[in-house]
Amino acid sequence: MNIGVCYFPEHWPREDWEEQVAQMAEAGIEYVRMGEFAWSRYEPEPGTYDLEWLETAVDLIGDHGMQAVLCTPTATPPKWLTDEHPSILPEEQDGTTVEFGGRRHYCFNSPVYRQESTRITEVLAEHFADHDAVAGWQTDNEYGCHGTTRCYCDDCATAFREWLRERYDGIEDLNEKWGNAFWSQEYTSFEAVDPPRHTAAGHHPARMLDYYRFASDSVVEFNREQCEVLRAVNDDWFVTHNEMNLFGTIDAYDLGDDLDFMSWDSYPTGHVQHASGTGEDPDHLRAGDPDLVGLNHAIFRDAADGDFWVMEQQPGGVNWPPQPTQPGEGAMALWAHHASAYGAETVSYFRWQRCDMGQEQYHAGLRAQDGSPDRGYHDATRAAAELEGLADELDGSHREARVALLHDYENLWGFDIEPASVDFDGWEHLLTYYAALRRHGIAVDVVPTDADLSGYDAVVGPGLYFASEALADSLEAVARDGGEVLVTARSGVKNECNRLRPTLPGPLTDVVGATVEQYEGFPGDAAPTVEYRGDRYEFRTWGEWLDADTAETLATHETGPASGTAAITRNDAGAGGVTYLGVWPSEDLATAVVGDFLDDAGVPTTRPLPDGVRLQRRGGLTWVCNFTSDQVYAVAPADATWHLGGKTVDQFDVAVTDAPPSDLRVNVE
Ligand code: GAL
Ligand code: ZN
Repeated sequence: MNIGVCYFPEHWPREDWEEQVAQMAEAGIEYVRMGEFAWSRYEPEPGTYDLEWLETAVDLIGDHGMQAVLCTPTATPPKWLTDEHPSILPEEQDGTTVEFGGRRHYCFNSPVYRQESTRITEVLAEHFADHDAVAGWQTDNEYGCHGTTRCYCDDCATAFREWLRERYDGIEDLNEKWGNAFWSQEYTSFEAVDPPRHTAAGHHPARMLDYYRFASDSVVEFNREQCEVLRAVNDDWFVTHNEMNLFGTIDAYDLGDDLDFMSWDSYPTGHVQHASGTGEDPDHLRAGDPDLVGLNHAIFRDAADGDFWVMEQQPGGVNWPPQPTQPGEGAMALWAHHASAYGAETVSYFRWQRCDMGQEQYHAGLRAQDGSPDRGYHDATRAAAELEGLADELDGSHREARVALLHDYENLWGFDIEPASVDFDGWEHLLTYYAALRRHGIAVDVVPTDADLSGYDAVVGPGLYFASEALADSLEAVARDGGEVLVTARSGVKNECNRLRPTLPGPLTDVVGATVEQYEGFPGDAAPTVEYRGDRYEFRTWGEWLDADTAETLATHETGPASGTAAITRNDAGAGGVTYLGVWPSEDLATAVVGDFLDDAGVPTTRPLPDGVRLQRRGGLTWVCNFTSDQVYAVAPADATWHLGGKTVDQFDVAVTDAPPSDLRVNVE
């Protein structure tokens, strides 16, 4: 469990470096990430390299007992390069060229840029091949940030046609499978298929889905080329990439296949302002939402090999969300603990010192612009010392989640292409269930739909839109072996070409033991209700009218033309069962249904935790993380040992005990 920092020596006079690096070491920092935007300094003119400055910085880092993480600089191609090859610049859907002047102004499918990316990666890798202080590499920076995953340029058109040729058995096959008789969309050749550029009505859902797949594959391929170059030069280096909050346009499982571990960039008070419906909570503006942060930790932890880093951790106020709120006192240390509790190996703050030039002057650093310690510095040094203290207490036991939450990028794409209800956001829907599970204090693995589910006692599959026969079999096997499965609204709706299934929930119909007769969407203020086990609960956005066949009805609609029809069912399947939840539940309904479901599965839970308070277990220790401005009290068994803090946990603070989550209770007063 280490603390790191992101550092830009190129932003400071050379005479400052020694002192800056010495201060980092003093703060307890172990890793320093550098160089992700420095191409114009690496190669001031075409073919003329200057890596001496970076080497000096790496030497200093090594001399002070730390390790450097270097980056390939491809997120910012220099001006001379895009001037020489304007075809590198990406195109938006409406044909607008993305010009030089910001960052990420390149197309993943530009053959020229692919060559340039390989060239600069090779030059850097070879220069640092034998340097002891280089631990590994980050490829590029935040692939796809600023809406740049999907490009619509001519190079992409060519690459898309190639991609389609490999997947379809001739253009007739594509016409047939996509369903191009609709609105005269038939093609006479692959050459005729363009990227889905600006058009009057919405695009064909089959074409869109393939374009989304193609764009994600393009990034994965681009990244793979850099990984191969780096590994060929020095196989001892790790190679990672920094992903983003609920980032849906690139399949993290595909990207993770080429990386040693995944990293992501965590800005809790910023992310919460973009996740709809969560930015209003004053505590969220101080510390973020632990489930939103936690869902990212869980996704990236399992997207590669079970390890992950937070490559960028919010250091104070940040420039890009609507409001640059100041984190609550201690929140920046709390985030490092929370990440470590999820298994993060390193939490690296962005950035060392606030910068007095360029686009991010309103972004804090651990140090202020004059070099003095800022709020984040105090939290980071505290976290470094506390995590070092706790490292000795970890017993090396592995986390053992008995519950899996299924996550699939294609499902997100399906909802994005056809939300059907304007408020149906796939991420938010997933988060509803992640939060409901975490409220019960349990450990949850977030895994892809093709994961081996056989070890889990309970599996939750929210909105399995493209559920396949294979997934139906794997869920059926979980239930047959005595596990509980929870499948939710909008599952089994489409086939792999984004075409409607004859009966919903498609391949899941038998195992669910019920069919979806009708569905409807609701505006935000509608407040429709269901009756579940004798109580009335609201739901939101989406409601399905179920027709139970072999399943038993657990909840019934109470409002509108749905009144009296089933809303939640449970089907006995072998020794276990499959619950189908056909509405988007309110927090109360989700807590109740998920609680009963976990009881049925025999998973030990704690009494539902207060909002903003979460328990997380790692290596025989449990972290009590308080993301709220209230003091909370943990009721623990008499023999529990507190390794950090104690039963009373202050606002935005953390405590660590050996008692397992199911033996703890947390009260607000
Ligand atoms: C990240 C990015 C950094 C910096 C940071 C500011 O998305 O990787 O380069 O811009 O945001 O919060
Ligand atoms: Zn392009």
